[in-house]
Amino acid sequence: MGSNGNFEKYKSDGSLLGNVLEWFDARFPATSMWRAHLSEYYAPKNFNFWYFFGSLAMVVLAIQLITGIFLVMFYKPDASLNASGIPVAFASVEYIMRDVQWGWLIRYMHSTGASAFFLVVYLHMFRSLLYGSYRKPRELIWVFGILLFLCLMAEAFMGYLLPWGQMSYWGAQVIVNLFSAIPLIGEPLSLWIRGDFVIGDATLNRFFSFHVIAVPLALLGLVVAHILALHEVGSNNPDGIEIKKTVNDKGIPLDGIPFHPYYTVKDIVGTVGFLIIFSLIVFFAPEVGGYFLEYNNFLPADPLKTPLHIAPVWYFTPFYSMLRAMIWPLFGIDAKFWGVVAMGAGVVILAFLPWLDRSPVKSIRYRGPIFKTLLAILVFAFLILGFLGTKPPEYAFFGLIPGAPIAQLLSAYYFLFFLTMPWWSKIDKCKPEPERVTFK
Ligand code: HEM
Repeated sequence: MGSNGNFEKYKSDGSLLGNVLEWFDARFPATSMWRAHLSEYYAPKNFNFWYFFGSLAMVVLAIQLITGIFLVMFYKPDASLNASGIPVAFASVEYIMRDVQWGWLIRYMHSTGASAFFLVVYLHMFRSLLYGSYRKPRELIWVFGILLFLCLMAEAFMGYLLPWGQMSYWGAQVIVNLFSAIPLIGEPLSLWIRGDFVIGDATLNRFFSFHVIAVPLALLGLVVAHILALHEVGSNNPDGIEIKKTVNDKGIPLDGIPFHPYYTVKDIVGTVGFLIIFSLIVFFAPEVGGYFLEYNNFLPADPLKTPLHIAPVWYFTPFYSMLRAMIWPLFGIDAKFWGVVAMGAGVVILAFLPWLDRSPVKSIRYRGPIFKTLLAILVFAFLILGFLGTKPPEYAFFGLIPGAPIAQLLSAYYFLFFLTMPWWSKIDKCKPEPERVTFK
């Protein structure tokens, strides 16, 4: 098969298919786009499994969009009570689970997809940290990535209200109430977000609207921008060196291979592996011990009964821990406000990474001991923060070591890692980078 796939061959063979393709191609950039983004997009030949997660994020996005379309056919965003005294929205999800044919599968695929999305995206982001993929000239890919992450958080948060269970209701109540801690504009702002004095039908309807159309559109647009920016500068790789520096007389990188067919096939292997694990969860353990679907959310929302312990879903808990870590009022402003600031800053600080990192090399393979140690501690801190965020604030490890001060310490570490990066990334003892990518 030529590097253009079979496209070109058909176009010039005089057959009906060839003629149709030629007609189409003269009016639409089909062949040129195929070439630019697939058959003549040269990707480094040394990609490893960390490079699965970008395409997997696209697979999960497709799963979410398709299952979402089918859920909307039966779901009703209505907080009023039906004849049995159950909120209509909650009852419509139960109807999907019990009465709609294959409804349970579609719903479990969507709920599992939400967690899978975050898992895949966290690993995708971590890959960028390992190999310095956010560094020049890929800053914009990274910034689009952070915007994608923020949209993903908004999408998940608003989607979680829709089943109108106890956790949907009280989780949203807690998070929207946080905005009221902002000085001066806080109260009117949270009222404006809710459209009511408490989470209610108006909130449910607007979250539904954002969840099914506004945010998915933003996500799709950002994914296109993310990939276009990537293809403009070319992919990074596990060695963190630029393959465009060594090219043949045709300008093709010596260490590059056409994305199609080599990486399309590789990504299909990753996708099949992912779908096996995904199916195991969907069919055998869709709740994942209350981490993917919280048990309290199988109870209909009751505005008169606050659950004893309100916790967000696992993918928000590291940032939720940072929020709870702020217990001191500063400059006469409520601690709750500083909690919101810490939670927001926890994500936004990532956007500055391309400018905070001053290391002469990109990949962990050639970085020094300071980066390796600090990054290992960062991963540990993030996981423990995530764990503590699922627990009540009074939680103590083994009933002895109080979790709250540990969360404060680890949150401080998280921020210090980034804030002091310009200094430690410069003094770290790096190894020399190779001229060409290493590939066994
Ligand atoms: C809906 C979410 C996302 C999708 C569908 C997506 C998709 C992709 C794809 C297909 C690639 C190329 C393949 C690969 O390198 O794995 C890629 C590369 C990249 N993505 Fe994402 N991404 C998403 C979110 C993010 C986020 C949240 C970040 C970081 C904040 C990010 C940062 C990057 C970077 C830096 C690269 C270049 C990697 C390199 O060349 O080494 N992406 N993305």
